[in-house]
Amino acid sequence: MRIGIIGSGHIGGTLTRRLRALGHEVTVANSRGPESLTQLAEETGASAGTVEQAVDGADLVVVAIPLLAVPALPASIFDGTVVVDANNYYPQRDGDIAELLDRSLSSSRWTADHLKGARVVKAFNNIQARHLLEQGRPAGSGDRIALPVAGDDAEAKRLVMDLVDALGFDPVDAGSLDGSWRQQPDTPVYGTDRDAAGVRRGLAEARP
Ligand SMILES: NC(=O)c1ccc[n+]([C@@H]2O[C@H](COP(=O)([O-])OP(=O)(O)OC[C@H]3O[C@@H](n4cnc5c(N)ncnc54)[C@H](OP(=O)(O)O)[C@@H]3O)[C@@H](O)[C@H]2O)c1
Repeated sequence: MRIGIIGSGHIGGTLTRRLRALGHEVTVANSRGPESLTQLAEETGASAGTVEQAVDGADLVVVAIPLLAVPALPASIFDGTVVVDANNYYPQRDGDIAELLDRSLSSSRWTADHLKGARVVKAFNNIQARHLLEQGRPAGSGDRIALPVAGDDAEAKRLVMDLVDALGFDPVDAGSLDGSWRQQPDTPVYGTDRDAAGVRRGLAEARP
């Protein structure tokens, strides 16, 4: 696939490495511009680009940036694109966002409201970057970690679940984007590296 990655930090850098290793064509972007990404591009064989170049022609775009930076993205270029939202809301980092503080919206719904027309799927938000880098396992392994995948677009969700599997994790359908609060910080599945049965149980046991 042609994959765009916005954010080159812990999660974006990790997914650049892992997805290039699987043979995908990756364009990675950050806030400082392509010239700051020379080393990552050389190491992985990814292209360093602008946000626009990462989105243009991509089959799927991962957004892995501090949530407060989402409204600064050029929303119109995401129209019709499958967007994997790996972000989390941390008020101390992202500031006060009323509808997230009062939990009336999931952070992925808030993101989808900004990126109107994008086919948003939430994934990779609940696993530490280092575990994403190092703990993928072949299907059927006893110690395979499962990752919840939430979204409203069935085709987009399938694409992301297949990618999660290819990266060495059991994908678990976590339901709708509005219900994706069940995998946000402070829920049973957040950072706990459960197997598929454990993730299903944790999603069901999550409390708002
Ligand atoms: N760290 C983890 O283990 C982990 C796990 C799961 C989910 N998450 C979530 O994933 C997101 C990213 O976390 P992280 O730890 O990877 O962050 P990070 O290491 O601080 O990296 C953030 C990246 O976002 C880029 N960025 C910021 N504003 C941008 C903009 N307007 N346009 C394009 N790129 C922009 C930064 O660009 P520059 O490099 O130019 O500064 C940087 O590359 C957060 O929402 C976090 O909560 C993190």
